[in-house]
Amino acid sequence: MNNSASRELSIDPKRLVARIEALGEIGAIPGTTGCARLALTDEDLSGRDLVVTWMRDLGLDITIDGIGNVIATMPGFAAGTPPVMTGSHIDTVGTGGKYDGNLGVLAGLEVIETVIAAGLELDRPLAVGFFTNEEGARFQPDMLGSLVYVGGLSLEDALLIQDRDGAVVGKELDRIGYSGPAPLPGPTPHAFVELHIEQGPVLEDEDITIGVVEGVQGISWTELTLNGQSCHAGTTPMRLRHDPAYVASKIVTFVRDLTGEFGEPQVGTVGAIDLIPNLVNVVPSVATMTVDLRNTNEEVLQLAETKFRGFVAQAAEREGVGVQTRTLARFEPVDFDPRVIDIVEQSAEAAGLTHRRMPSGAGHDAQMFARVCPTAMIFTKSVNGISHNVTEYTEPADLEAGTNVLLRTMLALAETDF
Ligand code: GLV
Ligand code: MN
Ligand code: MN
Repeated sequence: MNNSASRELSIDPKRLVARIEALGEIGAIPGTTGCARLALTDEDLSGRDLVVTWMRDLGLDITIDGIGNVIATMPGFAAGTPPVMTGSHIDTVGTGGKYDGNLGVLAGLEVIETVIAAGLELDRPLAVGFFTNEEGARFQPDMLGSLVYVGGLSLEDALLIQDRDGAVVGKELDRIGYSGPAPLPGPTPHAFVELHIEQGPVLEDEDITIGVVEGVQGISWTELTLNGQSCHAGTTPMRLRHDPAYVASKIVTFVRDLTGEFGEPQVGTVGAIDLIPNLVNVVPSVATMTVDLRNTNEEVLQLAETKFRGFVAQAAEREGVGVQTRTLARFEPVDFDPRVIDIVEQSAEAAGLTHRRMPSGAGHDAQMFARVCPTAMIFTKSVNGISHNVTEYTEPADLEAGTNVLLRTMLALAETDF
């Protein structure tokens, strides 16, 4: 590769932003700048088609596998040469923005377009992918596509997963036409690097442009179904009730108190509660709720899970309420590869950008690739640290900075033998 040419190279920020805006139009939430493209919905289909069109326009080799992951690779290399891969997701949560995941995919496309336009000759191809159902907002677990890609879950099992309304992954993939023949587990890349918005406030708070991501915290998602006795709200004495809403509220409070007891970096969230029948004058029969616990330390996370399970059993028993527990996702903390972390750091430094090392609080496709190849991530600022919210925003200058670090990192990885 011509090194001096690569040092001069930088991406086209206007083209990058134009693609982010165009993709963000699909599933746009009226009256906001947010986006709703839940995995395998019609909106996801339209978003996929648009990104695939862009991949085709660049003349990339495109593969689609049985879980709907789409990977586009630069042509012209010996068959089977492992690529330097980047990518992320284009599904969003129901109240999402247009940067979460989308940036990583469109930045990858931008890097590849920049390299092709410059006529650089590389030792290895570059590839960009988008991975199915990263968010986990519709189907659990999250990071589903990348998990199956690396062999962490069988395709058979993945295709059977259902959403809350009973829609099945395999049928939804067939319906939108994104079940392809590429093999799973997928071919191992030479290395993987993902650019993502930080989704938190640290970079902005410290006025630092680039996060050099050292790893991802562990994630534990549980669904609880609390079964009580539905009865009349006016006639039933309090001492005779078996109220699942009361137990659910105790669990909400417990989760918050547990994070206080453990201190940072323990976090805990009850993000969904459903009551049946959800009426003003009826003691509910069923409460269904989700609990999200995360920690960078696996032992501490396990302790949090043990205390949580103990509390749930005790609170339910006291109220005479039954409990069913289902694990929706469980991923241990992940450490990224120190060699790729160093390359990201050197790339930020060489681009003259301020940077700091940091962990990721959110889950990402890169944490799955870390199981099979040298992997790390790059973060760029989120305004007010807000994400999973329609007001999610990243300044164009930060999108550009992050994508230029991705460019430098991918070029360096293409020259690195691991
Ligand atoms: C994925 O977005 C997560 O919940 O971390
Ligand atoms: Mn994301
Ligand atoms: Mn997300």
